[in-house]
Amino acid sequence: MRKNIVAGNWKMNLDLEQGIHLFNEIQDLLKVELRGEQEVIVCSPSIHLNSLAKALNDTSKLSIGAQNCHQAENGAYTGEVSAQMIASAGAKYVIIGHSERRLYFSESSSLLAQKLDTTLKNGLLPIFCIGETLEQRNGGTYFDVIKEQISEASFHLDGSEYGKLILAYEPVWAIGTGLTASPEQAQEIHLFIRNLIVEKYGQSLAENITILYGGSCNPKNAAELFAQPDIDGGLIGGASLKARDFVDIIKALN
Ligand code: PGA
Repeated sequence: MRKNIVAGNWKMNLDLEQGIHLFNEIQDLLKVELRGEQEVIVCSPSIHLNSLAKALNDTSKLSIGAQNCHQAENGAYTGEVSAQMIASAGAKYVIIGHSERRLYFSESSSLLAQKLDTTLKNGLLPIFCIGETLEQRNGGTYFDVIKEQISEASFHLDGSEYGKLILAYEPVWAIGTGLTASPEQAQEIHLFIRNLIVEKYGQSLAENITILYGGSCNPKNAAELFAQPDIDGGLIGGASLKARDFVDIIKALN
């Protein structure tokens, strides 16, 4: 059975005090309100990870993740953060290949393939993002784009490694824009992605892979998106910065 997951992506927002405050608010609300088996992840700026790990209470339903890591194990890469550092700070997950990293930091599929390797080698679980731009959607090439992004960056992994991945379909035109993919549009791509994994790794592995939707997901549209058979949760940007909204999105996933 695949896991239902909601992950928050704080991006480059919140100073340390604000981050701890939000984290505690989420934790307190979940303690009282979370009934189901959903897994909840907060992906904070790397510099906050260890403080959030220390703020986790014993019964917490939260896990912590980073938003990026360097592809090398260590070395002379001034300003960068390694997978091992992230793991040692108390994180379990790391987002790899977010469209903002592809766009603003020119991250290519071959680089992302290396990042997936390093992440897995260091015991972290990758949340691997894919998604087409508006131009690609309108030009009708989006199935090819998604196929290429997935196969070039991740299909070198063997089955036991692939089973550790969480995928996140995030149409670039829906991120931070208030435009959400319709449940039908999102389901179409999620099913397409799952079928690619069936072809490569077989039915049972594909059935167990969690595929998240991301892009202007909010408490109003979450339930309809999560009701689709191949949408197993969400990767939430803006709405993860408000505890009430984030928890309402989590509660929409049952
Ligand atoms: P958004 O961002 O929810 O603010 O659209 C999603 C993401 O970038 O992961």
